Amino acid sequence: MGDMSKMEVKTSLLDNMIGVGDMVLLEPLTEKSFIENLRKRFNHNEIYTYIGSVVISINPYRSLPIYTPDKVEEYRNRNFYELSPHIYALADEAYRSLRDQDKDQCILITGESGAGKTEASKLVMSYVAAVCGKGAEVNQVKEQLLQSNPVLEAFGNAKTVRNDNSSRFGKYMDIEFDFKGDPLGGVISNYLLEKSRVVKQPRGERNFHIFYQLLSGASEDMLKKLKLERDFSKYNYLSLDSATVTGVDDASCFRTVKNAMQIVGFMDDETQSVLELVGAVLKLGNIEFKPESRVNEVDESRVKDKNELKEICELLGIDQSVLERAFSFRTVEAKQEKVSTTLNVAQAYYARDALAKNLYSRLFTWLVNRINESIKAQTKKRKKVMGVLDIYGFEIFESGENSFEQFIINYCNEKLQQIFIELTLKEEQEEYIREGIEWTHIEYFNNSVICDLIENNTNGIMAMLDEECLRPGTVTDSTFLEKLNQICADHQHFESRMSKSSKFLNDHSLPHNCFRIQHYAGKVLYHVDGFVDKNNDLLYRDLSQAMWKANHSLIKSLFPDGNPAKINLKRPPTAGSQFKASVATLMKNLQTKNPNYIRCIKPNDQKASHIFTDSLVCHQVRYLGLMENVRVRRAGYAFRQPYEACLERYKMLCKQTWPHWRGQARDGVEVLLKDLQIPAEEYSYGRSKIFIRNPRTLFSLEEQRKRRLHGLATLIQKIFRGWKARTHFLLMKSSQVTVAAWYRRYAQQKKYKKTKSSAVIVQSFIRGWKARKILRELKYQKRCKEAVTTIGAYWHGTQARRELRCLKEEARNRRAVTVIWASWQGTKARRELRCLKEEARNRRAVTVIWASWQGTKVRREYRKFFRAHAGKRIYEFTIQRIIQKYFLELKNKMPSMSPCDKTWPARPYLFLDSTHKELRRIFHLWTCKKYRGQFTDQKKAIYKEKLEASEIFKDKKALYPSSVGQPFQGDYLEINKNPRYQKLNSLVEEKIIFADIVNKINRANGKGAQRIFLLTKNKFMLADQKSGHQVKSIVPLAELTSVSMSAQSDGFFALRVKEGTTAAAKGDFLLNSERIIEIITKLHRAGLDLTKEKIQIEITDEFLVQFKQDKVCVKFIQSNPKNGTMASCKRKNNRLLEVTVPSP
Ligand SMILES: Nc1ncnc2c1ncn2[C@@H]1O[C@H](COP(=O)(O)OP(=O)(O)O)[C@@H](O)[C@H]1O
Ligand SMILES: [Mg+2]
Repeated sequence: MGDMSKMEVKTSLLDNMIGVGDMVLLEPLTEKSFIENLRKRFNHNEIYTYIGSVVISINPYRSLPIYTPDKVEEYRNRNFYELSPHIYALADEAYRSLRDQDKDQCILITGESGAGKTEASKLVMSYVAAVCGKGAEVNQVKEQLLQSNPVLEAFGNAKTVRNDNSSRFGKYMDIEFDFKGDPLGGVISNYLLEKSRVVKQPRGERNFHIFYQLLSGASEDMLKKLKLERDFSKYNYLSLDSATVTGVDDASCFRTVKNAMQIVGFMDDETQSVLELVGAVLKLGNIEFKPESRVNEVDESRVKDKNELKEICELLGIDQSVLERAFSFRTVEAKQEKVSTTLNVAQAYYARDALAKNLYSRLFTWLVNRINESIKAQTKKRKKVMGVLDIYGFEIFESGENSFEQFIINYCNEKLQQIFIELTLKEEQEEYIREGIEWTHIEYFNNSVICDLIENNTNGIMAMLDEECLRPGTVTDSTFLEKLNQICADHQHFESRMSKSSKFLNDHSLPHNCFRIQHYAGKVLYHVDGFVDKNNDLLYRDLSQAMWKANHSLIKSLFPDGNPAKINLKRPPTAGSQFKASVATLMKNLQTKNPNYIRCIKPNDQKASHIFTDSLVCHQVRYLGLMENVRVRRAGYAFRQPYEACLERYKMLCKQTWPHWRGQARDGVEVLLKDLQIPAEEYSYGRSKIFIRNPRTLFSLEEQRKRRLHGLATLIQKIFRGWKARTHFLLMKSSQVTVAAWYRRYAQQKKYKKTKSSAVIVQSFIRGWKARKILRELKYQKRCKEAVTTIGAYWHGTQARRELRCLKEEARNRRAVTVIWASWQGTKARRELRCLKEEARNRRAVTVIWASWQGTKVRREYRKFFRAHAGKRIYEFTIQRIIQKYFLELKNKMPSMSPCDKTWPARPYLFLDSTHKELRRIFHLWTCKKYRGQFTDQKKAIYKEKLEASEIFKDKKALYPSSVGQPFQGDYLEINKNPRYQKLNSLVEEKIIFADIVNKINRANGKGAQRIFLLTKNKFMLADQKSGHQVKSIVPLAELTSVSMSAQSDGFFALRVKEGTTAAAKGDFLLNSERIIEIITKLHRAGLDLTKEKIQIEITDEFLVQFKQDKVCVKFIQSNPKNGTMASCKRKNNRLLEVTVPSP
């Protein structure tokens, strides 16, 4: 092992080779050296050996460190012959061919049971998974594809004597890839599960793994749910021989399987349903039957212990009675007739086992379909496909217990061998012939005769078995054998004791109930027992119907044939024909793909490592036809390729063909090979292909190509880089030119500007200098001119002045004469004036003195008058000023215009006292006048009345002051408005001046009676107050003489009537009213208006009143105010009425 891990990366198959890595190179080629080579390599842990592109794999029965990720990397993308033989090299070749050349691949793994096929298939899959694309989605697909294995192995594998993990079904898996080589999904096909194993296992073998895994791995809870016990011995279907397998932990496998199911995509309830079915199958095996005798002496079977049956029915949701009946009766339907027959105990057991087998195999098919559903590719785009075929290997039980299953399995292997022959040996030879290559024919055994013996549609063994099965009448296994003997007796690969050619009549190794077939891999003795039954694969319809009725969705879906609505009287196809059909499909499928072979060899029968049994290996080498294989490879050419493809691939190795060859592809290849100086014996020209004898030639071609490709890549790189650098350079150059141009222009511009400015400066200096020179010249000239002028001027000046002086002298002389004259005149005048002034002054002085003298005289005379007049005038003036001031002040201090306002400014001067008072009076009168002037006529009348009242009562009657503030209303009763007095009003006719309620004093007791008092302009009336209209008395005013009343504050008054008048008859009236002042005033005015005479008004505290006959004195006395506030009248005696008036 140690030296293994130190393996270096080899560059050729030939390096460090143990034995020969490729059998094609074996020298000398004999069976012995062949096996010797295998053994040698095997002993050095080299389990893989090539025959050309075929891989021989010898089962090491122990794990080797050659499947590590490092190894995967080592073999990845390497040429097939580059490294030492490995299954990874084959897988890599297949994958790359698929990915790069778009060729669908199939990997055909063949070999005996236990030779390592399943392992090999897994290695291929895991390698492909490791090297193909990456990413979350891709990884999930990979994981699902890989995890489908543990699930299928649990249900489809079992421990056999040959193999602890023997596949009991054939499996073909298509892995699908997209154009990049990323896996998309897969499709699994399964072939013929060995379902008889469910009910019976050969000695030393086990039932399918899942049963043991379930019982040891499921939780207590789950077991309880499934009504199972954790004890293998409790179940009839589990052989106790080898309940446990050394080195296998069923419990942990169970967890692995459950986990795998989850990854693949099983729902929890689906997993549960599956396990329920597995449990149900186990329990089915425990149902036992007992005979029950019937009247017609036919034994009828009955379920012995119904408890198990009950539990199954509970588990699967089946009506117990239905299932129970299905185990006791069988309904046969023939042409619309239903015949029910009873089952005996043996038939019941048969039915039970059939059900268990069917249940399990249908469950297995369902599992495969369910997995397919999960792993199928999610796209409809074109897919590349790699198929991996792992089918059960050739199987021979030396004990002769080979039955229908072995027959089928071996048939399948026979077919595979044929396809191998077809695709390698025959195809190869035929191709040589087709291509016109010289070819020495190699003898090889073509097994198509054997295939024909089995599958021929008219007289093949399978056809005859089917015929027997369908034939009416009694059909048994022996009738089938008889038939075989008749038809196949002459076939060179068929042997039977019964056959007419008595060649085997005495062959005791061939029992009577057997037949023997000479398979390509050896002779196999088949027992005909059970052939018919197994081919029929019958399940009584009652049972499938019972299953269909189950209240369990999975089991119901497994038995669609139990649906009474879909009853099909036609028999289902037999197991044999089904298998034949599916094998045919498989073969067709494989033929469309590029085959890759792995031929597995079992080194010993003990499943032991390090043991290499020559005879066993030799047998396998023979029947696998490996020797022929090598011979064909050696005789022929290791490699061939159409000219076009070859030229396309290697044209870069030769100048003439690179990059284009303009002629025929074949000529191109010829030129190419010649140019490469490959020895002529190494290759051969076919019609359309070039054949290369030695793999190494090809390898060297590949190597050169690889190197050349590197060179080409460098060339491309070089050209590209050159181009890139050039373009870059050109770009740089043109940029530089542009930059330089711009810069030069800029520099020139700058220089030019500088020169220009210097020139300007120089110019300006020169010009300045020139200008100054001219200026100087001009200035000089100008000064010269000026000097001339000045000199001229001076000269003229001098001349002029001289002249002027002469003139002036002359003038001065003239003026001096004048001045002197004037001065003389002046002196004369001034002397004269002085004399005149003296004279005048003297005159005025005389006048002034005179006037002064006169004034003095006058003043002396008038002095005595002056004082007397001035004093009077000053006095008058002063008085006037004081009065004026008085009036002005008074004007500013005037009181308000209210007549009631009695204020008046204080008198300022005593001497104005009377004036001040007079003014005050005048002002008062004036304000009063102003106030009156505002009055309306109505108001005037009221005031007039009030004035009258004042005249009559003021200072005379004590009641008066209180009446001043009260307005006189006149009609207090509102006679003309109040409906109560309507009648009275109509009686009066005249305008009512006054109307009010008064008290008429009764003379008899001094008490008052209420009366309405009415006054008009010429009469007054008294009316009854209660009735409101009854008039008591009417007195014309003309007949009224006087009125009497007290001076007190009472309301008593007497009205006296003229004697002798009609009114007088009733006498005077003594009345009392609060409104006495108003009544009397109005009476007085009315009387005055009517008669122009004043009614006499007497105000006294004692007066007489003339009642009807008597005169009564009315006396007023003041009383204490405590005795009441009202005046009261009391009769004192016949002649005296006393009125008490509260004192004020
Ligand atoms: N390459 C291998 N390396 C290690 N052990 C192997 C290898 N191939 C097969 N075996 C062992 O051999 C046993 C049988 O192999 P298997 O592939 O199941 O055989 P087959 O499918 O041909 O019946 C496996 O269980 C394993 O223990
Ligand atoms: Mg297998």
